[in-house]
Amino acid sequence: MADGAAVQQERLDALLDERRTFPPSEEFRRQANAADHAIYQRAAADPEAFWADEAARIDWFKPWDKVLEWNFPWAKWFVGGKLNVTYNCVDRHAAGPRRNKAAIIWEGEPGDSRVLTFGMLQREVNRFANALKSLGVRKGDRVAVYMGMVPELPIALLACAKIGAPHSVVFGGFSAESLRERINDAQAKVLITCDGAWRRGHVVHLKHNADEALHGTPSIEKVIVVHRVGERAEAAMHEGRDLWWHHLVEHASDKCEAEPMDAEDILYLLYTSGTTGKPKGIVHTTGGYLVGTAATHRYIFDVKENDVYWCTADIGWVTGHSYIVYGPLANGTTSLMYEGSPDYPDRGRFWQIAHKYGVNILYTAPTAIRTFMRWGTEWPAKYDLSSLRLLGTVGEPINPEAWIWYNQHIGRERCPIVDTWWQTETGMCMITPLPGLTATKPGSATRPFPGIDAEVLDEKGERVGPGAGGYLVLNKPWPAMFRTIYGDPERYVRQYWSRYPGRYFAGDGAKVDDDGYFWLLGRVDDVMNVSGHRISTYEVESALVDHPSVAEAAVIGKTHDVKGQAISAFVTLKEGTPATDHLKEELKQHVAHKIGALARPDDIFFSAELPKTRSAKIMRRLLRDIAEGRVLGDTTTLADPAVVASLRQQYEAKE
Ligand code: PRX
Repeated sequence: MADGAAVQQERLDALLDERRTFPPSEEFRRQANAADHAIYQRAAADPEAFWADEAARIDWFKPWDKVLEWNFPWAKWFVGGKLNVTYNCVDRHAAGPRRNKAAIIWEGEPGDSRVLTFGMLQREVNRFANALKSLGVRKGDRVAVYMGMVPELPIALLACAKIGAPHSVVFGGFSAESLRERINDAQAKVLITCDGAWRRGHVVHLKHNADEALHGTPSIEKVIVVHRVGERAEAAMHEGRDLWWHHLVEHASDKCEAEPMDAEDILYLLYTSGTTGKPKGIVHTTGGYLVGTAATHRYIFDVKENDVYWCTADIGWVTGHSYIVYGPLANGTTSLMYEGSPDYPDRGRFWQIAHKYGVNILYTAPTAIRTFMRWGTEWPAKYDLSSLRLLGTVGEPINPEAWIWYNQHIGRERCPIVDTWWQTETGMCMITPLPGLTATKPGSATRPFPGIDAEVLDEKGERVGPGAGGYLVLNKPWPAMFRTIYGDPERYVRQYWSRYPGRYFAGDGAKVDDDGYFWLLGRVDDVMNVSGHRISTYEVESALVDHPSVAEAAVIGKTHDVKGQAISAFVTLKEGTPATDHLKEELKQHVAHKIGALARPDDIFFSAELPKTRSAKIMRRLLRDIAEGRVLGDTTTLADPAVVASLRQQYEAKE
């Protein structure tokens, strides 16, 4: 666990100098959804009452009997309550004055667009829900989703939620093998995919990948295919198994009753990387998740009735689930989604979209902001961005320079910035400013959301003093928390609740400053964060050793200006295999093929041996020192110091 310490120390040192603060303007405070600091005291004094008040904004078919049942580490929220997520996100709005309000504004990469009002969304969701039913999908059946960012994606999720079938979305950038593994773990009955997706003007062959994945997925009975790219997709339809989405919905009824779900019924699974090679199926349930995402969305993003809200994440990740689909739609918000790449057809695309739709709230990732910085201020400067009134960031620590740039060049010094810390597991934002109340500091996620109890502890479980680094924990359950790891409750207990008994161990390093502000320092385990995407070192190592030429591999995340971290791999080849540049390329390709392009290593270094302790443990810390060009840490425990010297030589030769 100490592996990330060096990286963290570096960030800690840099942050100690950061003293700028940005209080909210009086004008913003006055109109904010959270305008009174008393919200913190109220929630701290009685968190259950606070969450119950938030839950009262949701429509329940049957009210809950008890807000929280906490049998450490097993939580049940809104016990006995019955509700339906899609009813709350769509039907109740479609039945009222929001019927003709835009629910989803969709912008396709090639420039096509579509607006779905709540009324239209309801009809589309119902048609597709009925189509799923006609294929035999019942409450409790898992549905796998492997799609691009098209309107049918949120429609599919909402249709699943309407009939009580948990969805399991697999990001479209994952490989066939990753998809297969996730389908099999979830034992999904149906797969929904697209013929292809547009990305930077090229076609991503989703259906082709899905076909490859489907060799060896016995649970899948039917595959539903959205027609998106047409002729350019290599999408052969398999008779008897594959069905076109548009054929299925053509004659389906647009009426569908929402299935009453127990508050604790599963809403979805979402696989994420942990510290082993096997991804974890994070389980989110119905009532608490909806209450948590809706409340955080309303207070943190300060959404107002006529706002256009744009979260730029992909729905393949938790950010898209909670803050493109469920949180915003529960609040009746107009949620914008964009299909493609920020540099297509040019580097001004995001700003062109923000201008075109008059976006008021923008939520994106530090890696995107750093990319925009590199592209230059001329791109955003070309567009009138005066509609923006709030900016957000998520996914990784934001460096103060990027924060300041975002504030100046996108927010034009008018917009509060909310830096939100959370995880797939937490389901909702946990440490974040409230924009009308919090004086922000560039690089700090500031304070726990009302009702959230976070702390930073040392190895022994003692609270660390101001300014010192430690491990982030959460002391109390929260409504949108994951309930378990699908099929592996033991891992849930071991990985998250055992290191500090009674508390949730987040896997992040953090410090708290004199004002009680939290500064996130990055992961403390073997999880990398590459462009905001979570990848485990073991997953990449397993993919490498799967190649016939590789004997052993060690992978680290190296600090990278734009991506946050980049993947560096140190590889030992099998006897007699020549270490060529061609082989390096082949290995990179192999990893991309096994896991997905997001896991492709930036650098591969061949070495006759890897630095190991005398008890044969690979010393990743030293590899990181080498990769970062730092003075080597303690090498006294190395079995063979010559190994490190030779690796360093190679690294320096390359730089
Ligand atoms: O290390 C933290 C980082 O992202 C991890 C969670 O990744 P994932 O489950 O993929 O969810 C990402 C989107 C919620 C965390 O353990 N992280 C996320 N947000 C921040 C962050 N690190 C620092 N600051 C943030 N705002």
